[in-house]
Amino acid sequence: MIARRTLLKTGASFAALPLVPKSLEAAAPTAEVIEARLAQAQIAPEGYPLTQVWSFDGKLPGPEIRAPQGSRLTRTLVNALSAPTSVHWHGIRIDNAMDGVPGVTQSAVPPGETFLYDFDLPDAGTYWYHSHNQSYEQVARGLHGPLIVEEREGPDVDRDEILMLDDFRLDPETGQIAGFGNMHDFSHAGRIGNITITNGVFNKTLQARQNERLRLRLINVATARIFDLNVQGLAGWVVALDGMPLDTPRPLNESLLLAPAQRIDLIVDVTAGDGSAAHLVRIEGDEAFSQVLFEVRGVAATQPRGTPSPLPPNPDMVVAGLDGALQSHLQMDGGAMRGFASARMDDRKVSFREAAENGQFWAFNGMVGMPEEPLFVAERGQTVRVTLQNDTMFPHAMHLHGHHFREVHPDGTLGPLRDTLLMFADEQREIAFVASNPGDWVFHCHMLAHAASGMMTRIKVLA
Ligand code: C2O
Ligand code: CU
Repeated sequence: MIARRTLLKTGASFAALPLVPKSLEAAAPTAEVIEARLAQAQIAPEGYPLTQVWSFDGKLPGPEIRAPQGSRLTRTLVNALSAPTSVHWHGIRIDNAMDGVPGVTQSAVPPGETFLYDFDLPDAGTYWYHSHNQSYEQVARGLHGPLIVEEREGPDVDRDEILMLDDFRLDPETGQIAGFGNMHDFSHAGRIGNITITNGVFNKTLQARQNERLRLRLINVATARIFDLNVQGLAGWVVALDGMPLDTPRPLNESLLLAPAQRIDLIVDVTAGDGSAAHLVRIEGDEAFSQVLFEVRGVAATQPRGTPSPLPPNPDMVVAGLDGALQSHLQMDGGAMRGFASARMDDRKVSFREAAENGQFWAFNGMVGMPEEPLFVAERGQTVRVTLQNDTMFPHAMHLHGHHFREVHPDGTLGPLRDTLLMFADEQREIAFVASNPGDWVFHCHMLAHAASGMMTRIKVLA
């Protein structure tokens, strides 16, 4: 038994070990564990109290999971919290049964119980994982971590840094996470925090060298905040969005919006000189803050390198057949200041006021929360177009599970592959994708207080 545990700890695969007797093999744990449990984290600056968070493996963010493209990921979720939970692997074209959505693909894992996640990783890129149960609360308490699927041949960079951008709402007296019943959050822009952090810490600082080439994987794990980002002392390119490579790296010359759940991969060269500083800058109105500070010490090369090659594309991502596509529409209503005249909620017709009395504020196609019937049923392989009309006063980050889509621009051109679309008030946008992945896939706002108060639907792809 001791030898076995040691082997497991070093990450050796059990199935690959010929010395394990067959009878024992069946009983042996075959997956690494990821444990949801309480932890203490120094979110506020040093000198302030530690904050109790809900974590994966005691870490904030959760442990970095890295695996090669084409491999299989297995993790046994152990729930050591006092609330039921689950893990959703955000952005992965995953087997539906492994998607981690309680009530749709599995039951929430009760305290003390486990669930085996076991799935293929068809696509390289920057992904993340998070609780999908009571997610407006559980993700905000810290149940999230990075999932990196490595290209077979990675880009030519000196270093790869994951930067998980987040915010927390802490009680300034105690340093503890403030409560969750705030109706203003549900009905307005969601739960915006009062401290903005990177990789779990305030004022994140990294070391770098002049002309060093970095791959920065930005992941917005906040439940409501849209990050408006820029760089200083760094020059480079956007090479991927929501995990999926751009056909051509896009020079980084304007600020970037990163909505909740979205990712941006950058390849940047450190142009700031030895002894100075570079920044990932967060813009808030007229003000700019250093979200990540790079202390530049030493010189990596005498010159910056030229434009990077595009990352290798992921397989079978062509969105074709737009003309004969199945057409669907998603009408988004509700929220403060506009509300809706009436909507269906649990089989009855309600006014906005009645919905609000039940903590619900938003409707998709006149329906509050998850409908009985999917938004549409697609044949496997069918191309689908969905127009989205945001008739609310707020931005929304619409996330489709199990697929990546492209935006169809008004001139008919297609945007980059994405899994989360940021929409502002009064916008109408259209997306298209090939419904290639069978199952029931939720489609919701990733401002998670909105998802919890009405902005949730699902689609069905036949097997
Ligand atoms: Cu990032 Cu429905 O999830
Ligand atoms: Cu929303």
